[in-house]
Amino acid sequence: MKRREFIKSAALGSMGGLLISQTFGAQAGGNMLTPREVEGPFYPITPQKDKDADLTQIEGKVGRAKGTIIDIFGQVFDQDGNAIEDVTIDLWQANSYGKYHHPHDNSEAPIDPHFQGWAILQSGKQGRFKFKTVMPGAYPLNSPQQRTPHIHIKISKYGYESLLTQLYFPDQPLNDKDGLFKRKSVQEQKMMTAKKTSKSNEYRYDIFLQKAF
Ligand SMILES: [Fe+2]
Repeated sequence: MKRREFIKSAALGSMGGLLISQTFGAQAGGNMLTPREVEGPFYPITPQKDKDADLTQIEGKVGRAKGTIIDIFGQVFDQDGNAIEDVTIDLWQANSYGKYHHPHDNSEAPIDPHFQGWAILQSGKQGRFKFKTVMPGAYPLNSPQQRTPHIHIKISKYGYESLLTQLYFPDQPLNDKDGLFKRKSVQEQKMMTAKKTSKSNEYRYDIFLQKAF
């Protein structure tokens, strides 16, 4: 190969690499996309009527979920930072004892009859969403796979790559020991971790989706 051709092909090669890293890597349009995570075994399979944004109360029941009540809000954006409305946000989590309302969760942690455990929300104006829940418990110590507190989320809207992820919380001592969390890069961990606001028990969590076409 002549020197000039070699330089040209090397330049094209590195450009190709750049394009690939923009498409499949973390960086797109200046914003990092929310990283993906596995679904886990406990996506709800028992039908339930109440899937609203307050997971601390079940419609028609008197009483409130046990644990620390927390508020989470945020916005959904595309990779260019445009807010996306009408995005479906389907989320589920363990109760404050670390137990899922799922027939396959056979840990000895108690069920909380007042905890809703599952919500399906839509992002509204400017892609905003919010929900009230309890701080999920770590899976019990006797569970074979101990997990740090997390919330599972499935996000979908026509025209965007659907996203399956998990939300984490800052300053959780188990984060460093969590098998799934540890596998992520520092930057990915940052994207997946809600940020504490100045209000007590309130967190901000923004979601970045990839346009499908
Ligand atoms: Fe989980």
